[in-house]
Amino acid sequence: MTRSCLAIVLAAGDSTRMKSSRSKVLHPVAGKPMIAHVIDALQAAGIAEVALVLGRDADQVEKAAARPGLSLASFIQTERLGTAHAVLAARDAIAKGYDDVLVVYGDTPLITEAPLTSARSGLQDGNDVVVIGFETADPTGYGRLLVENGALVAIREHKDATEAERAITLCNGGLMAIDGRKALDLLGRIGNSNAKSEYYLTDIVEVARAAGGRASVVVAPEAELTGCNTRAELAYIEKLWQERRRREFMLAGVSMIAPETVFLSHDTVLAPDVLIEPNVVFGPGVTVEADAIIHAFSHLEGAHVGPGATVGPYARLRPGAHLGADAKVGNFCEVKKAEIGEGAKINHLTYIGDATIGARTNIGAGTITCNYDGVNKHETHIGADAFIGSNSALVAPVTIGDRALVASGSVITDDVPAEALAFGRARQTVKPGRAVELKARYQAAKANRKGSKD
Ligand code: UD1
Ligand code: CA
Repeated sequence: MTRSCLAIVLAAGDSTRMKSSRSKVLHPVAGKPMIAHVIDALQAAGIAEVALVLGRDADQVEKAAARPGLSLASFIQTERLGTAHAVLAARDAIAKGYDDVLVVYGDTPLITEAPLTSARSGLQDGNDVVVIGFETADPTGYGRLLVENGALVAIREHKDATEAERAITLCNGGLMAIDGRKALDLLGRIGNSNAKSEYYLTDIVEVARAAGGRASVVVAPEAELTGCNTRAELAYIEKLWQERRRREFMLAGVSMIAPETVFLSHDTVLAPDVLIEPNVVFGPGVTVEADAIIHAFSHLEGAHVGPGATVGPYARLRPGAHLGADAKVGNFCEVKKAEIGEGAKINHLTYIGDATIGARTNIGAGTITCNYDGVNKHETHIGADAFIGSNSALVAPVTIGDRALVASGSVITDDVPAEALAFGRARQTVKPGRAVELKARYQAAKANRKGSKD
């Protein structure tokens, strides 16, 4: 679109019903602040200029909204006198002159590019105002859209609506596009004689028509316009977001056996032919490549899983875990800040942190990289085709060469050269017949004790 556009994001609400010490729009959905979801939708719609209308936590909200390539201006609404009053807090930005002014809410994080672009197209078609509406089974509380012969004639707030108007199920989503050249004039004509004595942005429809202009509606899916006022609504929005993203992944070739039990992050990347088993949680920063399998009950964060690799069941990948192609991290293993080579295996009950492990190396059950001395972190480097016997403690900093072998139960404190065998434990001694002897001695002692008590 060649028309210039300013988006105004209303986020000055005091979030009373969230019962939070933070601004509502800072609360995360899929690990990303609500305000950032809204900004990303605006950027996806090609909008580069944004005015934020803020109340509390202005600095933090600004930080969460900042993006490269986005010009951001903030305006503080000191008194909360209604949505039209809030938009006018950004008066100086509007006055710069834009073809389109788009008003969106900071607490409507599921909005996508499509209805924003449609609303702007409506302006191009000659409307002064285009409202984004939705159909709902339960319209209680929303402004109702009064439509006659395809034109939007008014928006009636629930509190001000008649019985007949309350029966209308086409509602105001709150987001709208306004002709940028007329916006200040129209907004300036809005009064506050209504049930709440607020300056309602919604009155702009009647104001525009009274001035000889036109208004219309674009209808968006109800889910996209779901607003957040309470923690319960926040959880509902999270649920809708998760459902939407899981579905996108499945349609893009990712298999999920029980999708409703998989939790994704806003930035999770899953390639086609990845299989996700039930009850898997993705924290931020995870990429999984093709043909990898994430088995049940695994938790991944800041990790990269290479093609054909397998994780879990019950595995934990922490930030900096980087699994090469066909690597395996099995049950009750934790991997942090470690490069795991192609085809390497860490199958059972192991902690690998601050380490590199070469291709095809096998890490036995119960191996621990002792990376922390209580003050500093140290690194463990293990070469390719090495074998670490079960229950070994590798005390970092330590290096184990290619094709080296560490005997099980070892405490390795010195480097092991390539192709060497290292024992770090006491030698076993065997005493023939001593087991039977020992047992007889114990039995005799027990009988003795009993006799002395009688
Ligand atoms: C508003 C609409 C209603 C619509 C509903 C959709 C008006 C008058 N009503 O009602 O038609 O169906 O949204 O959710 O616009 N805000 C400020 N400063 C203010 C007032 C509000 O920044 O002075 C912000 C709020 O933080 C919020 C948004 O504007 O993000 C909407 O305000 P809110 O009071 O929630 O409006 P609703 O009563 O829900
Ligand atoms: Ca609201």
